[in-house]
Amino acid sequence: GWKMEDVMDEEIEVINNTVAPDDNVICALSGGVDSTVAATLVHKAIGDRLHCVFVDNGLLRYKERERVMETFERDLHLPVTCVDASEQFLSKLKGVVDPEMKRKVIGKEFICIFDAFAHELEQKVGKKPAFLVQGTLYPDVIESCPPPGSGRTHSHTIKSHHNVGGLPKDMKLKLIEPLKLLFKDEVRQLGRILKVPEPFLKRHPFPGPGLAVRVLGDVTEGNALDIVRQVDEIFIQSIKDAGIYDSIWQAFAVFLPVKSVGVQGDQRTHSYVVTLRAVTSQDGMTADWYCFENSFLKEVSQKICNNVRGVNRVTLDITSKPPSTIEWE
Ligand code: XMP
Repeated sequence: GWKMEDVMDEEIEVINNTVAPDDNVICALSGGVDSTVAATLVHKAIGDRLHCVFVDNGLLRYKERERVMETFERDLHLPVTCVDASEQFLSKLKGVVDPEMKRKVIGKEFICIFDAFAHELEQKVGKKPAFLVQGTLYPDVIESCPPPGSGRTHSHTIKSHHNVGGLPKDMKLKLIEPLKLLFKDEVRQLGRILKVPEPFLKRHPFPGPGLAVRVLGDVTEGNALDIVRQVDEIFIQSIKDAGIYDSIWQAFAVFLPVKSVGVQGDQRTHSYVVTLRAVTSQDGMTADWYCFENSFLKEVSQKICNNVRGVNRVTLDITSKPPSTIEWE
């Protein structure tokens, strides 16, 4: 049998033989396991000739930017530039309600920012970057087409249209895909050897378009983003406290642009409805809704209404995939 240490050493050798001493390599970090492990491996091989970028698109979860930047910098010592592009993304998303249109707008904006990052680097080092690191996995390679007519964009299509397809034409970047022969659990194993913190390796998947697909309708309306962040944080923290985070494939809150009547104190309220979604799954293609204990649900619902201004009703999504999808948009 082969050991992951050997796989790592071989990969490092391949990267070292591929990247010339004066070549620069760029990588977009999403905050997910795959891009983080890929970047950490490449960094181990070529050091600070690697240049990573993390984009805050204004659609991230509560404290996400701070949390992932801390892991990148403090735990992994990755050379990473954090670009705050929230206003840019949100202004482009104003008035956009169609889910696929949201994805298009976000994808296009991401390319602009990545493009600018690559050009700035070129200015700084006096040479175009030669390579791009991608966290492509083996399953992405063997099965990269979304089912026809699904109207959905598969994660690999998203990755490739963010990174490969949408690259500045004059850059002519070659790909480094150090994980392309590995399955997810092997990437986690490799991440462990590279000292990526365990909780980071076990994080639930998060969609590229972020909270844009978890706020139904216009994401820039009122304080929808702020509300969904707070509700999500309470929900996820409660799940962690209950010790069930690792039994769930994905859990999150969704903001519904719907108001209902409630009573808080002796005041009648007319406030927003949120919904909670938690599923188990093997690969995200099919999923079952997760069965919480009643006491857990009772507590989390109370916590949300007591702590999140503007919410007076919490609902639970009890639909599997199919017929639903995991996300609401
Ligand atoms: P659905 O909602 O299609 O989601 O059942 C299946 C898995 O894919 C994630 N997802 C996305 N990931 N870009 C991504 O990178 C997207 O546009 C996107 N849409 C859905 C979803 O979170 C789930 O894990």
